[in-house]
Amino acid sequence: METKKKMLDSVNAYIEREKNNVNTFYQGDYHFKAPVGWINDPNGFVFFKGEYHLFYQYHPYDTIHGPMHWGHAKSKDLISWEHLPVALAPDESYDQGGCFSGSAIEKDGKLYVMYTGNLPGKTEKENRQVQCVAVSEDGIHFEKVPQNPVLTLKDLPSNAMIQDFRDPKVFRHEDYYYSVIASCTKQNTGQILLYESIDLIDWSFKSILLEGTPEQGIMWECPDLFELDGKDVLILSPMRMKKVENDFHNISSSVVFWGSVDWQSGKFQVDSLKEIDHGLDFYAPQTTLDDKGRRIMATWMQMWDRNIPTHTENHGWAGSMALPRELSIKEGSFIQKPTSEIKEYYHDLVVLEDIVLDNEQRKFDGISGNICTIELVLDMKECSTFGMKFFSNDSEETVMTYTVETNELGLDRSKSGYPIVGVEPEPLLSRKVLCPLKNDLLKLNIFLDKSSVELFANDGEETITATVFPLKQAKNILFFSEGKTVINYLRKATIHV
Ligand code: FRU
Repeated sequence: METKKKMLDSVNAYIEREKNNVNTFYQGDYHFKAPVGWINDPNGFVFFKGEYHLFYQYHPYDTIHGPMHWGHAKSKDLISWEHLPVALAPDESYDQGGCFSGSAIEKDGKLYVMYTGNLPGKTEKENRQVQCVAVSEDGIHFEKVPQNPVLTLKDLPSNAMIQDFRDPKVFRHEDYYYSVIASCTKQNTGQILLYESIDLIDWSFKSILLEGTPEQGIMWECPDLFELDGKDVLILSPMRMKKVENDFHNISSSVVFWGSVDWQSGKFQVDSLKEIDHGLDFYAPQTTLDDKGRRIMATWMQMWDRNIPTHTENHGWAGSMALPRELSIKEGSFIQKPTSEIKEYYHDLVVLEDIVLDNEQRKFDGISGNICTIELVLDMKECSTFGMKFFSNDSEETVMTYTVETNELGLDRSKSGYPIVGVEPEPLLSRKVLCPLKNDLLKLNIFLDKSSVELFANDGEETITATVFPLKQAKNILFFSEGKTVINYLRKATIHV
């Protein structure tokens, strides 16, 4: 017990010591980031006793993935976060290779987290993953339960690989607790397993909720199952999903299925499937339901298997979260909107109306900056292309383009600055998404935060999220049009937390 406490004490002391040694040149102002070190997936995202709690995969000692801890922060508005002590360290025999991703739920006034104990073997074949539970009275200090691990390979169905069994997302449905857990079949396809429990400690296998096709990736990670506007929604993150037209170009994708769950058989009937975000850095989303009934999604704003400039350049940190997004399903579309609290942090508003851009490129007074938001309503009746250049200086730019003929919105980071390459055979430098105009209008809500851009198009019907790392100060914003674009409305605000 003493050594366990020591591991948490020393990691928290390390963070205290090192948190002021981070180079913040690229660090976003209003996006969630850890005090120091590497982060990946959001974990245990939950509304508990009047506050949002966000845990996250955390390796504070380095800027690469390593023995995972659970970092922890809380917030009243999802924008301004208070860092809390590290919640979990890999200090038990069943999680000594890392406390991998998982989730949280309140029961009898206590906060329960369910997470994966990672147990690497001497060879990949000998790797094992088990599920564990920890409980907290105050939402800050956690005790791992003596019954751990609560699910092991003996609880797997026969066609599951014993090496890949992770990322439990726990929830309540009627009289039972359930957990959806990611798994890989012996044919190397993804599947989501459903487990049930009455007390969150004693779990039993219920069903294979959904199985992927070979095109849908070699393993599914980070499932989440919830109800949204009358549909059952399953989100998950497939590794190496095959490209289809504009979709699934990253090495790993995040997708949403919606349809219905048959709770008798524990099977998911799929009506629709969609890639959640068409950018370059968006992975492992997880949701929670808050006291206002909002379904809110937190997401890692980075991608596996590419270089991360803040690591290469020794900035002392790597990774942050995308803006929290409120989800809904409207008229058959999966909608994501930044949670409205962000507006409390808007300053220095500039509004422009009825401006014509006629085969030209230009800047506007007061419209510049790299920590800001821009909302636009564009009339594209008489134009073929409209675009904007963000994070621009004399040699660098990140380019957004809308092409009327193809109805595609795109983002290109090939000239953004620091080159980002990965395991893809050809570096992936741009993405596009189909986004039809509505009565010739395009609505955009754009968020820039030093090294990230998030585009929300047509009231959240499509989104594009990417990181960019300009080598020099890059604060210009340019507008261009081929043909005539009318900017019906533009509102820019700086954002300051
Ligand atoms: C997804 C993931 C999870 C795993 C965690 C490890 O990004 O690979 O499947 O639990 O990261 O940090």
